[in-house]
Amino acid sequence: MRHSACCFALLLCFHTAAMLSLLRWCTVSDQELAKCSDMSKAFSRANILPELACVNGGSAVNCTSMINWNLADAMTVDGGTIYQAGKENGLKPVVAEAYGQDVGTSYYAVAVVKADSNLTINRLRGAKTCHTGINRTAGWNIPVGFLLDSGRMPMMGCNVSKAVSDYFKASCVPGAGESGHPASLCELCKGDETGQSKCELNPREEYYDYAGAFRCLVDGPGEVAFVKHTTVPEATDGRALSSWSLEDFQLLCRDGSRAAVTEWRTCHLARVPAHAVITRQDMEGSLIFELLNQGQQRFNGGDSSFQMFDSTAYGGKNLLFKDSTTELVPIMEQTYQAWLGDEYLHAMRGLDCDPKRLPEFLRWCVLSTEEIWKCSKMATVFKSQNLKPEIQCVSAQSPEQCMQHIQKREIDAVVLAGKDIYVAGKTYGLVPAAAEHYADGDTTSTYYAVAVVKRATSDVFTIHELQHKRSCHTGYGRMAGWNIPIGLLLQKGFIQPQECNVLKAVSGFFSASCIPTTENEGYPANLCELCIGDSKGNFRCNASNQETYYGYTGAFRCLADGRGDVAFVKHSSVFENTDGHNTDAWASMLRSGDFQLLCPNGARAEVAQFAGCHWGQVPPRAIMVHPDTNALVVYGLLDKAQDFFGKDNTTNGFKMFSSADFQKQDLIFKDSTVAIVPVGERRTFKSWLGQPFLDSLEGWEFSQCSRAASKPVNVIPLLVTILTLATISSA
Ligand SMILES: *[C@@H]1O[C@H](CO)[C@@H](O)[C@H](O)[C@H]1NC(C)=O
Ligand SMILES: *[C@@H]1O[C@H](CO)[C@@H](O)[C@H](O)[C@H]1NC(C)=O
Ligand SMILES: *[C@@H]1O[C@H](CO)[C@@H](O)[C@H](O)[C@H]1NC(C)=O
Ligand SMILES: *[C@@H]1O[C@H](CO)[C@@H](O)[C@H](O)[C@H]1NC(C)=O
Ligand SMILES: *[C@@H]1O[C@H](CO)[C@@H](O)[C@H](O)[C@H]1NC(C)=O
Ligand SMILES: *[C@@H]1O[C@H](CO)[C@@H](O)[C@H](O)[C@H]1NC(C)=O
Repeated sequence: MRHSACCFALLLCFHTAAMLSLLRWCTVSDQELAKCSDMSKAFSRANILPELACVNGGSAVNCTSMINWNLADAMTVDGGTIYQAGKENGLKPVVAEAYGQDVGTSYYAVAVVKADSNLTINRLRGAKTCHTGINRTAGWNIPVGFLLDSGRMPMMGCNVSKAVSDYFKASCVPGAGESGHPASLCELCKGDETGQSKCELNPREEYYDYAGAFRCLVDGPGEVAFVKHTTVPEATDGRALSSWSLEDFQLLCRDGSRAAVTEWRTCHLARVPAHAVITRQDMEGSLIFELLNQGQQRFNGGDSSFQMFDSTAYGGKNLLFKDSTTELVPIMEQTYQAWLGDEYLHAMRGLDCDPKRLPEFLRWCVLSTEEIWKCSKMATVFKSQNLKPEIQCVSAQSPEQCMQHIQKREIDAVVLAGKDIYVAGKTYGLVPAAAEHYADGDTTSTYYAVAVVKRATSDVFTIHELQHKRSCHTGYGRMAGWNIPIGLLLQKGFIQPQECNVLKAVSGFFSASCIPTTENEGYPANLCELCIGDSKGNFRCNASNQETYYGYTGAFRCLADGRGDVAFVKHSSVFENTDGHNTDAWASMLRSGDFQLLCPNGARAEVAQFAGCHWGQVPPRAIMVHPDTNALVVYGLLDKAQDFFGKDNTTNGFKMFSSADFQKQDLIFKDSTVAIVPVGERRTFKSWLGQPFLDSLEGWEFSQCSRAASKPVNVIPLLVTILTLATISSA
């Protein structure tokens, strides 16, 4: 009857909402319906307006879609439902339950260990764990969601309980006894005194619920218990567990540290928001609060026959509202994100993986014939190990074409390097889902670009006094020697090219340089002035090893020899050529302590401090996807795949990180990759690239001098070959 045609215009909505004459409450059970109907009568007798009606939706999921479709208006739900309803149906929380002075509208989910344990949040793999119950907030959703979302716990094909069982050594998760859950999830459970009811989701299982999960830790089988912040103080108050005290336990913090049990405000896995009343966007939240507020003033405590926060009369618990509610309070910022908070939101995001929505295929963008071969083989062997989702290979002609297709969701994933990651993020909105990881000490695949100078007592110049200095570069167009430093100097406005003539601008900025090149025409002479060629003086400024000052070592030598004042190289160049690491005559006496770094912020730093004083990090290559693609699914597949086909396993024929069988290098993945790793908190292209590198890329872009910008955009219709499984198996 009423707002059936609501929301065609905002004004109309506001009008309708302001005149709200009936509020339809959605209930999930017959018991709730009975209580709701009593509440409606009680409110009506007390002349509380608008009128309250009750509709039975049968379940929280049904109710949220009924509210969305304007068949109901409001209901109270937990955080998980607030997340789903907010994300899927755009519903908003407007009124919250409060549970008394101490906790207010929330509690904290914590991970408890014994004080003498050596576990941290980063060392939980292989631990023995105690949970309050399957799908419960503090005992399951928060810890599992946190570990999944942060990339610590890999998950293939949305199979959460399989991921948990693979990650932990053994667990007690009451309720995980039914089929479909791995047996290890019930392994630590105890059952009742006679050993019956093991792993049941009820108090007959001794390790069930908060007190039970804590008991599972105290008794010994478990090493960590996922409970809430009040559990340990309650259990160690001298009555329940007389021989234990608070000091015997500690909390695991998100940052990898540990803290006393009393520090739960700062050391927890997530703040869990209170249950809240949700409604549609077009409903005026304050009107719903007004109604409920009038109600709670009459029917909370006192001697009235109807009690809003008591469910005993209906033979149930927590009907309509939690029984522990002391009052209802209005929510100020009415968005589901603000109400849930980042910690909780991220945990929900980790669990937000519906196997029914899992795509059957992950379409992988490949660029060359050899890559198609390798990808086809990869698809076949992944399938043979039952890895999900299956790989499908799609070819395109350039990284940029891959990005376009991913943006349109015609392809799902591609591996990209630094500058392409920038374009993929900036122009096509793609995000990193997983990344290559190279061996420790591998400074070829990823490194920092630095500006090395001699330690000096006089003329201690910084980046601000670089003008008119003599510079040594690895080579024209190279990453550490040209793209990154010149980009940053452009971005900071030190170099201001006229009409995009960067070469001319650079030649005017430095007094003399050695920037080996393959170009001859119009190359400013002073950019070659410091170069010396080979031992006979031939090949001067030649971009090849015949030029003594070419490359990382050459550019560093140019500085060491005193020809230049600054060398643009990578962080390892200094160490490779000093302290006896290079025995050539020119280098044998050099000491790393005689050199320093110029930082972009105007400081100087020691050469070992490159991580905090660099001009840009060439980051590891990343697998880039559409922001709506579940990054954890992509990582989960590759993580499982590398168990079979990664560096450590030579038994299965196919090798993900080798291209030898296909007569090329770096096909799909770089051959120097040792593992695929999660991106952790670096979920955007910006955080993946890091600020200095981003600055230098933007320096090129803003000065409109990037090569990409000067090239005409490819407008040839895209040729895309979808290799079906039929062609894969025939390949
Ligand atoms: C949800 O709603 C549909 C249609 O309205 C109904 O058939 C179904 O039984 C409901 N589900 C539950 C759990 O009540
Ligand atoms: C932690 O302690 C366990 C036994 O208490 C031991 O086996 C393990 O090696 C320790 N781990 C670390 C990283 O110290
Ligand atoms: C736990 O939640 C999952 C996902 O929502 C659901 O499929 C499963 O049935 C639930 N298990 C139990 C025991 O409630
Ligand atoms: C999850 O994995 C377990 C063990 O491999 C399997 O029994 C179960 O069917 C899987 N569940 C789903 C939803 O795929
Ligand atoms: C190197 O120098 C030689 C002779 O000076 C020239 O013929 C050749 O083209 C140069 N090569 C490059 C890569 O610049
Ligand atoms: C290599 O793969 C096989 C399965 O094909 C597996 O049983 C074995 O554990 C793997 N080895 C390593 C070191 O991961």
